[in-house]
This record gives sequence, C-alpha cells and structure tokens, in this order.
Amino acid sequence: MSVFEGKHILLGVTGSIAAYKAADIASKLTQAGAEVDVVLTEHARRFITEITFRAITRRPVLIDLFDEPEERQIAHIHLAKRADVLLIAPATANILAKLAYGIADDLLTTLALATQAKLVIAPAMNTVMWQHPAIQENVRILEERGARFVYPVEGMLACGDVGAGKLADTPTILQAVEEVLNPPLRGVRVLVTAGPTEEPIDAVRHISNPSSGKMGYAIAEEAVRQGAEVTLVTGPTLLEPPAGAKTVCVRTAEQMLDACLQMYDQADVVIATAAVSDYRPAEVWQGKRKKGEQEWTIRLVPNPDILRTLGARKGKHILVGFAAETEELLQNAQTKLREKNLDLIVANDVSQEGSGFRTDTNRVTLLWADGSQQALPLMSKREVARHLLEAIRQKLLAR
Ligand code: PMT
Repeated sequence: MSVFEGKHILLGVTGSIAAYKAADIASKLTQAGAEVDVVLTEHARRFITEITFRAITRRPVLIDLFDEPEERQIAHIHLAKRADVLLIAPATANILAKLAYGIADDLLTTLALATQAKLVIAPAMNTVMWQHPAIQENVRILEERGARFVYPVEGMLACGDVGAGKLADTPTILQAVEEVLNPPLRGVRVLVTAGPTEEPIDAVRHISNPSSGKMGYAIAEEAVRQGAEVTLVTGPTLLEPPAGAKTVCVRTAEQMLDACLQMYDQADVVIATAAVSDYRPAEVWQGKRKKGEQEWTIRLVPNPDILRTLGARKGKHILVGFAAETEELLQNAQTKLREKNLDLIVANDVSQEGSGFRTDTNRVTLLWADGSQQALPLMSKREVARHLLEAIRQKLLAR
C-alpha cells in the first residue's frame, strides 16, 4: 500500500512561474491515494487557475480566508487539523519570509500557523534571490523549526539566468513528503558528538580549537527530523540544543568520553564530529595564574581517543568518524578509519574555502571500510548531514 493512501495533504501553491508544475504534484499525490486540498495564493492565480486543480483533485480549491465551503466549519482551522502534511510547492521568497516571521495575511499563511502538520517546502525563484542572505536566513530559521526543504536545483530559469532556483522535480518532492510521513530513521538510536573540547590550563584559560558545533548539530537535527532517537554529546558551543534530541553538555575530552561510554549501549550508530583536543595540560593551575616576566612552560599529556575506545568495543554499532585534514586527505582519513575500527569516515579538508570549522558549508568525501567512496561537492552542512544519514541508512538496510 502506498504511504500516501488515506493521507490528507494540503498543497499550497504560490506565485511563481513554476506554479504549473504543482498540477503534476497534485495529480501524482491524488493517484497515489492521498486526499489533496489545494490552496492558491492570489499571486499563484496569476499563473494557474483553480479549475486545473479542481479537475485533478476532484475537490474544492481554496483561495480566500473567509470562504467557508462547509457551513458549520471554520475552513482554515478544519483543514489545519486534518492535514498530515502541508506541502508548499512552489514556494516564493515572499512566502518563506512570511512563514519565518509568522505573518498570517491570507489563507495559506494562516493555515501554516494553525496546523501542526509537517511542513515541506519546495522553493523556486531567481538564483540571486535564492542566494540572498535574507532568504538563506529564512530557510535556516524554518529548518531549525523542523520544516523539510526540497532545495531548488540548477538549470535555465524562466528569466533566462542559469543557476540554482528551479523547482525540484516531482519525484524528489514526493520523496520528501513520503519521508516526512514515514521517517526513514524511525527506531534507530543515534549518538552524535559535536563541538570542541576545552582543556583547562587555569581558572580562566584553556586549550581548544575553532569548532563551532555546526556540523554535529546539523546531523543531530537532521537525524531527529528523520525519526531517529538522538543523543547529542556536545562540547561548549553557542548553538541552541536541537529540539527533539537529548543533549548532554561536557567540557573536556575525558568528560566527553565518559558521556559517550554511558550512552554507548543505547546507541545503534555513533557519529563523531567533535574536534576533541588530543592533549591536555598535565596540571591545572588553581585560580588564575598571575602574569609574570618568566616563561611559562605547560606540559601536555595525551587525552583518551574517544572513537578508538568505542571502536575497541564495537559490537553491532555502526561507527562513523570525521577526519579533519589539511594534507593527504584521503590517505590520512583511511588510516584513521582503519586504526579506530570504523565503518565510515568523513574526510574533511579543513583548509578549503567554505569547508571545515565554523562555516555553514562543507566539502567532504565519504570513505567506507570496504573501500568504496563518495565525494560530495561543496554544500550546506545540513545537506552533508542528509547525504551522510542516507549512506548510513543504506548500510543499516544491508545488514
Ligand atoms: O564544528 P564545526 O565548526 O561545524 O566544524 C566541523 C568540523 C571541522 C569540526 C568537523 O567537520 C570535523 O572535521 N570533525 C573532526 C574533527 C577532528 O577532531 O578530527 P580528527 O581527524 O582529529 O579526529 C578523527 C576522529 O576521531 C573524529 O571523529 C574525532 O571526533 C575523533 N577523536 C579525535 C581525537 C580524540 N581524542 N578522540 C576522538 O574521538
């Protein structure tokens, strides 16, 4: 039976030249057994008429907030309560801004606030608009709130420009809706490490590194959205704990090891993105050491290797490491994969522009223990998370 059978999908169509493609989406969803209620914005009606959608879905098409097709029901509340998914395709820059800031000035935006259904958004717009920091910020806000985005793809746009902005194709959009209805990682327990560790020198100084936690938090958030039971063990970061994950905050490598060992038996998959300090000061100065004229020599001792410790007692776990490298990327990553007894390592060239520490994007290569590899282009850390989790899901399925 199709996952769409008997499901109620609200399809919001906004004013883009790609609005005609929403007819195909409505048709495929209806054929797959879903009950599809189409909501058109005023701008969408300039591109496509309600007659098309009425014919495809055999249901009334909704436009006006004050329309009440069924007398005893307030339409937007009734629809909002019934919906399993609110899919907005195509989504314009305008609707993204309204959704991000909770503006409700028509039926679609009011429904979006009134519903608890999962939100799937497939934007379409000019490349420069899509790349505008205001739009990207709105996408980030909505993703953090749990919306599932189907990113626009590269191609020739209606305006004649070539670049990212084209509405994703119907199968990709339907797959996203399917994943939201039937989360691919449901029942899988994922332990993620993230951020830096801090190794105290005295009461106010420490050894650390520039990890912001963005990569690990993106994985934790994406895993939650895909239905996994997620524990995030994090060093100090400025990020909000991901909604839906159990977050354990630690400071030092030793504390991170303790937390991971405690959680290990309750995890199926471990993904270690944390930039763990390999060394710590042998002695921690009590209080703040006063400034003086003499040299200060700090003796460093090695920290435990968390992933190697977990790898030594691997059992049925799937163990995934990250390798932050500045040279000999693949060889060094492969050595870590072998020495730490991992299933997969994500080779991360941290010397590349837009890649590694603190950035919102990353460029990585996935290396499996069986020798297979997948090089990914520069993409958002969220997209890296999606590719990585899909690769892990395939591994789990193959077991
Ligand atoms: O946090 P961001 O600003 O988003 O940056 C992301 C990142 C660059 C930190 C991330 O993408 C990344 O590459 N993480 C790995 C950082 C690292 O410490 O790499 P490594 O090559 O030193 O370690 C290899 C693996 O062993 C890692 O999975 C690490 O978590 C683990 N390790 C390392 C040392 C140690 N003592 N214990 C460990 O478990």
